[in-house]
Amino acid sequence: MKILMVCLGNICRSPLAQGILEAKIKSLGLDWIVDSAGTSGYHNDELPDIRSIEIAKYHGLDISNQRSRKINENDFEIFDLIFAMDQSNFRNIKKLGRTLDESKLHLIMNMVNSDNQPVPDPYYNDGFPKVYKMLDEACDAILDRFNILL
Ligand code: 4NP
Repeated sequence: MKILMVCLGNICRSPLAQGILEAKIKSLGLDWIVDSAGTSGYHNDELPDIRSIEIAKYHGLDISNQRSRKINENDFEIFDLIFAMDQSNFRNIKKLGRTLDESKLHLIMNMVNSDNQPVPDPYYNDGFPKVYKMLDEACDAILDRFNILL
């Protein structure tokens, strides 16, 4: 299973989602690949936001090896599942091209409750602990749902 986490900048939410899911996969011994990307490219090649690095570190995860990149159409071929953090990311991913198999694309919190809840953008506030908790729940739900399908 190859999974891509996507937000706007690929420095706050999706790097955390990647780090959290990678850690769970490792502890389960699963052979999955996780990556993350942004729809914007505003922060290409940058490290995750220091607040994401710190909240990850607080939970025992090191995400400082990640670098931001922009999603591209090749990702539609490479990845089996693409998780958008919010509706804006979801729409922008769809706009990227016609080659997307839309059954691969999900709003990440719909893995927990199917009510189209966004993971709020924490860049301009201090919502990082809440974002971490939401993504931790979502990653558990992803494993519950897709692990049994292997
Ligand atoms: P992210 O957060 O999409 O969770 O990485 C943001 C990072 C940067 C910006 C917006 C959101 N920005 O406007 O630069």
